[in-house]
Order: sequence, then C-alpha cells, then structure tokens
Amino acid sequence: MDRRELLKKAIKTFFIIISMISSFILIIFLYPRNLKKKIVYFEVLKEKDIPKKGVKIVTFSYQKGKRNIKMKAFIVNHNGELFALSPVCTHLGCFVNWHSINQQFICPCHGGKYDITGNVIGGPPPAPLTRLAFKIENSKVYIGLKL
Ligand code: FES
Repeated sequence: MDRRELLKKAIKTFFIIISMISSFILIIFLYPRNLKKKIVYFEVLKEKDIPKKGVKIVTFSYQKGKRNIKMKAFIVNHNGELFALSPVCTHLGCFVNWHSINQQFICPCHGGKYDITGNVIGGPPPAPLTRLAFKIENSKVYIGLKL
C-alpha cells in the first residue's frame, strides 16, 4: 500500500467517523422527548361536580423540583361528550378564559377565539386547544399531564 492509498483510506475513515458522530447527535436532538415522558394524573374534581352542560374551570398544582406549579384546565360537557382542554393558547402560549355569555374561549393576548370544543374560530391561533388526558375513577375526575 502506497502513501496515496493510505491517505485515501485515512480520509475515508475520518468521514465515516464524522458522519457516525453527527448521526448520533442528530438522533439525540430529534428524538421526541415527549415519548420518554409519562402521563401523571391529578385529581381535580368529584364526579358529582362535573358540569351537566358547559365548562368548568379546575385548578390543581404539582411539585417540579423545588417549584410549586399551579395549573388550570377546563372540564367540558358538550352534547354529551366529556373532555378536558388545556387553557394554553396555541398562538403564543397565553392562558385563555372561558366566556359563558358568548360560549367562547378568548385569549387576552391577541384576541384568539375558540369554540366550546376548542376549535379556532377567530384570531391568530394556528391550532385548536389541546385536549388533555382525562379519566374518571372511583367517583373522582383526573386530568393527566405528560411530565
Ligand atoms: Fe393567544 Fe396570541 S397568544 S392569540
């Protein structure tokens, strides 16, 4: 093997190692972190307090490290369907408010509007409000968050 062939092999090996390292780094950064997270459920309501119709605001809190995180969510009973909605606006993350008079969630930041099912009906939000994990067990209502 002469010097030229040796140099070609060294360059080829170098590029193979570089591409393996960059692939590894890409996999680490692109791997969806949400897949690693598990859903943690929080009791938010007694089953008897579920609204017969419309929207109820619930609050709960949890510990993240040394911080106490306070959360709110909406329990919705609409046309016989029961679900939980996140209050986080899909535009830039402000908390939306429920306006029972016009039956809309309205974002105070840029005027985003959502209907009672969370679908966008006005303003800049690009997507509906997120439906949260939700379950009823032993007469208690739970909301689940990926933590
Ligand atoms: Fe809600 Fe902009 S953050 S409309």
